[in-house]
Amino acid sequence: MLNVEPFRELEAEVTEWRRHLHQHPELDYRVHNTAKFVAEKLASFGINHIETGIAETGIVALIQGEGGDGPTIGLRADMDALPIVEASNKPWSSQVPGKMHACGHDGHTAMLLGAAKHLAKTRNFKGAVALIFQPAEEDGRGGQKMVQEGIMERFGISQVFGMHNSPGIEIGKFGIADGPILAALDEFDIVVKGRGGHAAQPHRTIDPVVIGAQIIMGLQTLVSRYTDPTESLVISVTKLSAAQAYNIIPEQVELSGTVRTLLPSVRDFAEQHILLSAKGIAQGFGADVELKYRRLEPMTINHTEGTDLAVKAARKLVGANSVDDKVKPRMGSEDFAYMLQARPGAMIWLGNGSTAGLHNPAYDFSDEALRYGIGYWVSLVETALPA
Ligand code: NI
Repeated sequence: MLNVEPFRELEAEVTEWRRHLHQHPELDYRVHNTAKFVAEKLASFGINHIETGIAETGIVALIQGEGGDGPTIGLRADMDALPIVEASNKPWSSQVPGKMHACGHDGHTAMLLGAAKHLAKTRNFKGAVALIFQPAEEDGRGGQKMVQEGIMERFGISQVFGMHNSPGIEIGKFGIADGPILAALDEFDIVVKGRGGHAAQPHRTIDPVVIGAQIIMGLQTLVSRYTDPTESLVISVTKLSAAQAYNIIPEQVELSGTVRTLLPSVRDFAEQHILLSAKGIAQGFGADVELKYRRLEPMTINHTEGTDLAVKAARKLVGANSVDDKVKPRMGSEDFAYMLQARPGAMIWLGNGSTAGLHNPAYDFSDEALRYGIGYWVSLVETALPA
């Protein structure tokens, strides 16, 4: 069994990198200084195949193993932060007002750098490892853009792996499951077009507010009466706008929201039936609707072989009982989904302990988790590509 001891050595250095990144958060594709930091570190480890500027600020670096010919596997970290005012009160808090690493991508980047340093030194694997550092995970689908720019083909990547920290899972433990691990994310806008008028004479109007209210309830009925109770569907109406006065029935009402699903069939159903249901209800009362539906991110679906490898690698590191291989899918989403559409592989949750939740102003990545994340990457490479 591998253990985390060898990675403790790296820990002090990686902790410094992590805190440096935490102090200097950057958003979306504008992660210029972060990318520069990453590229300089990679070069300092003696890695000579480093390509920058992929998807604007993304990086892919290749480390060849010394264990003979073999396939190339991709390991992915995200580099971007969030537009949140930090309230962690840590000495290494963000130095950029209104931006913070509230999703732990500073930790993800630092861990992949730590693994890169170790792997570049030991090279105890066959084939090669492609280190993928992506921008714009939170907003902008940087992962999709890197796939569109052909990284899988160009670097000959045959399998791809991701890791995300998870508050609520103990430090030193991992969680994963075969199949869906995160949901698909869609958004919709519905405009209900009625006929406005005086609020004291509703019979002379077609009141889009009352019709909109029925549509909202109708959408919940799609979940409760038309979806298999064992298959997940979330429809949340989150935005409403109508008249600005007490005595006016408006011409139209706009309602918007989000849809989360774990199965393509349920996603198709939601897209079709949100429109049908809204239209049917509106027309029944003499109004009309306009609907816009956008599919934003696909489901993040772990492949069986990749999941088995990930479980094996994590268990070598921390033991069987510290790896839950049947975690429930979550209804959030991840743009690593696009990489898993392009190549087989898996994403794993890394325990971050009992910290504040992701995207919370009080959140901070747990530096005690660094050694487990680095250890996981190394174990994964040596398990997937045995020398
Ligand atoms: Ni994240």
